[in-house]
Amino acid sequence: MADAAKTPIDATSTAAWKQLSSLAETFQPDLRGWFAADSTRTERLTFDAADLHVDLSKGLVTDEVLNALLDLADETGVAARRDAMFAGEHINVTEDRAVLHTALRQPKGASVSVDGKDVVPDVHEVLDRVYAFADKVRSGEWTGVTGKRIHTVVNIGIGGSDLGPVMAYEALAPYRALPDGSGELECRFISNIDPTDAALKLQGLDPETTLFIVSSKTFGTLETLTNARLCKAWLLDQLGEGVDEKAAIEKHFVAVSTALDKVAAFGIDPANAFGFWDWVGGRYSVDSAIGTSLAVAIGPEAFADFLAGFHALDEHFRTADLADNVPVLMGLLNVWYSNFLGSETHAVLPYAQLLHRFPAYLQQLTMESNGKGVRWDGSPVTTSTGEVFWGEPGTNGQHAFYQLIHQGTRLIPADFIAFANPPYALKDGDVDVHELFLANFFAQTRALAFGKTADEVRVEGTAEAIVPARVFTGNRPTTSIMAPALTPSVLGQLIALYEHLTFVQGVIWGIDSFDQWGVELGKQLALQVAPAVGGDEEAAATQDSSTQALIRYYREKRA
Ligand code: F6P
Repeated sequence: MADAAKTPIDATSTAAWKQLSSLAETFQPDLRGWFAADSTRTERLTFDAADLHVDLSKGLVTDEVLNALLDLADETGVAARRDAMFAGEHINVTEDRAVLHTALRQPKGASVSVDGKDVVPDVHEVLDRVYAFADKVRSGEWTGVTGKRIHTVVNIGIGGSDLGPVMAYEALAPYRALPDGSGELECRFISNIDPTDAALKLQGLDPETTLFIVSSKTFGTLETLTNARLCKAWLLDQLGEGVDEKAAIEKHFVAVSTALDKVAAFGIDPANAFGFWDWVGGRYSVDSAIGTSLAVAIGPEAFADFLAGFHALDEHFRTADLADNVPVLMGLLNVWYSNFLGSETHAVLPYAQLLHRFPAYLQQLTMESNGKGVRWDGSPVTTSTGEVFWGEPGTNGQHAFYQLIHQGTRLIPADFIAFANPPYALKDGDVDVHELFLANFFAQTRALAFGKTADEVRVEGTAEAIVPARVFTGNRPTTSIMAPALTPSVLGQLIALYEHLTFVQGVIWGIDSFDQWGVELGKQLALQVAPAVGGDEEAAATQDSSTQALIRYYREKRA
């Protein structure tokens, strides 16, 4: 085998790929038959990884398919590349960087080298500063420029500098209580350059009790810097004349970035900045100082549990045999569904209202990572990559788009996520509402797997003419992921699970899952078009005719 850390292997040229193609040609999914014929199926296809209990048995997979997928992992060097990642090799080839988000959650005392330097002490030095800062804000020791304690933290960031913190802030709502029992700190998140976002998020805020965290890996992102300037102007304006501007910025603005020089140039005191490193991808950074707003909201102890959860899953991914390795198995199944059975999208359906932002978070993680058309050596891929991830919490989705998953013509593999213990236990009379909620989870995965035959429909007395419309074919694949409760640790485990399965798919496709060149062109063009939008005729003349006409329409209609 070629050196898997250096040369991508064309998955489509492997023996396993040929075997999978031939299995796919005659593949007849039959979950009813498979379960009836094999009483051990559930047990054999259910795996535990840290606190996650993952049932793959309702997937469209046979032993033959699974073995061929594991051969594919072998032939494409998944284990070797995983080890190269954990060892700090520059597997982000197009940016010539190590990929070491896993180092962010190593416990104190561990050691991970990047280019000959142990980075774990640096990670903990920053974490300790973030924790000390979080404690100060939470206890009221950190005050605004007029001496009042902070009540609201506004994170200004976009993409990975927004989606992780806001998702986790929502998910861990029950963990936000302040130590002195005085309620909780509110966090708001401004991301969009649509000025409506800043306008709405600033509404009702008291400048004296508001703290802004400008989060940007590069500190060069147009949206974030624009919003940071808007917020700075808002703060100074609201605090009114006579305020010491420098002192106000010092007390109301902190920053998180890898570019500390740019933070200083923006006017934020480097003493109020938390750094991280170029070996942390934006979409893998919620566990770095980018999570500062979260650490302030839930406190250092819960944030440390969050990191410990990531680490537990990292250890599973790093050490478990591939045949029992949950991120490996889930990644392989996704390759089977998308490359061999023709699925194009993948639904993530949390039966947990608190995870309502989890699908949006996964969209960046999976699609910015694996939406690539060339391999890491520049050669074109020879198969499709990167499914479209989407989803909404159950049961809301049941009353919206599940129809298409149950009876539509497309194959949509779906991950169902649920927790045994609810964060809020409510009863409707004698009925435990969480049980009713989980009954829906179990019922949906069952209906999708086993469907309802025409005979079963007829037995209910259905008129023959509408029998076909009421048949459910079944054989719609699902993965059920359960855990005891949505704790900070379990949330870390869930995120790490998806990080690693995304990685596994990227390795099989031979792509660099850690660059994102595809976002650059639009950014460049926006800067080029901006003068034309502002009325510069010369700049407008350089645009194509459609763009010129749209700009003209805008300028005519803008009041
Ligand atoms: O444009 C995409 C992107 O680079 C993401 O990868 C990143 O998470 C986001 O922009 C924000 O970047 P930054 O943290 O550097 O502001």
